[in-house]
Amino acid sequence: MNLTVGSHSIYLSDGNKIPLIGLGTYSDPDKTPKGTAYESVKCAIDFGYRHFDGALVYFNEHEIGQAICEKIADGTVKREEIFYCGKLWNTFHPPELVRPALEKTLKTLQFDYVDLYIIELPLAFKPGDTFFPRDENGKCIYHKADLCATWEALEACKDAGLTKSIGVSNFNRRQLEMILNKPGLKHKPVSNQVECHPYFTQPKLLEYCRQNNIVIVGYSPLGTSRDASWVNLKCPPLLEDPLLVSIGKKHGKSAAQVVLRFNVQRGVVVIPKSFNQKRIKEDFEIFDFSLTEDEMKAIEGLNKNIRFVELLMWSDHPEYPFHDEY
Ligand SMILES: NC(=O)c1ccc[n+]([C@@H]2O[C@H](COP(=O)([O-])OP(=O)(O)OC[C@H]3O[C@@H](n4cnc5c(N)ncnc54)[C@H](OP(=O)(O)O)[C@@H]3O)[C@@H](O)[C@H]2O)c1
Repeated sequence: MNLTVGSHSIYLSDGNKIPLIGLGTYSDPDKTPKGTAYESVKCAIDFGYRHFDGALVYFNEHEIGQAICEKIADGTVKREEIFYCGKLWNTFHPPELVRPALEKTLKTLQFDYVDLYIIELPLAFKPGDTFFPRDENGKCIYHKADLCATWEALEACKDAGLTKSIGVSNFNRRQLEMILNKPGLKHKPVSNQVECHPYFTQPKLLEYCRQNNIVIVGYSPLGTSRDASWVNLKCPPLLEDPLLVSIGKKHGKSAAQVVLRFNVQRGVVVIPKSFNQKRIKEDFEIFDFSLTEDEMKAIEGLNKNIRFVELLMWSDHPEYPFHDEY
């Protein structure tokens, strides 16, 4: 693993660096008081976070941007020290909609550029400003996607300086290969953001991505918020796993810190979400201990190959990524 000493970052294939831990920022907008994301990002910066994972569809980019801009204005950080990842939503896949969608994110954040812009899902929906378009029966309206054409529009955004790096999310091997083998490919995807934690360790996708210099960014690294409206609750709570708790005890760490350290130690970037000051701090304190080889192996052995985030409501989409083995 190409670790840069001191900065807790790894290199992406285009030469940019990504901090190994970022703050996840998804929280149900209907259940989250206004200002929570803003306060959380400000305190995360004070605790040392420099990487933030956001999306237009999280509906809180204005709070995240405001917090970061204020921390830049008061001299706590410089813009170039911040790494912000934004995401292209499913209704903006047609190439002509990609740049306007990114520009909307930039305007909301009050940024000139993002550090990483990724295709959030390989699932195109009916284009437009209705994020969840539905027919009269309430069924999501899909759109015929050409992921390669969408990718070319992302390449153009990078060339225009609107994003430093470009990547994907929730892509399976076939979909990654489609981009990597695209005739005339100008920029390779630097990262693939996918679910990754000890109950879903992604050994095959991880190996494939390693071979192709694609960094895996692990989402839901703590096992999600277990929100029944979108999480597969058949999978037991990750942080209550007795092995993780006992390894944590040995190191004077929590199960949360153990699972984050596990991924970071094998070169997987983690983006835990917390909007609680104590836990935001706790999740960042993973660089002052390491897991032994035996502990890493034992944690790998917990893999159940079950997703918390199955997205079954879109499983009949032609590009649904999770029918394939990986
Ligand atoms: N690309 C995609 O399709 C995709 C999908 C899912 C997620 N994501 C990204 O990944 C981020 C993280 O994933 P996630 O939000 O699904 O779940 P997660 O980070 O695995 O877990 C978040 C939950 O863990 C709690 N938590 C945080 N730190 C904790 C600690 N130290 N001890 C105990 N509980 C703790 C949080 O509650 P508190 O806030 O109360 O601390 C929250 O309920 C998202 O926010 C988003 O940025 C991307």
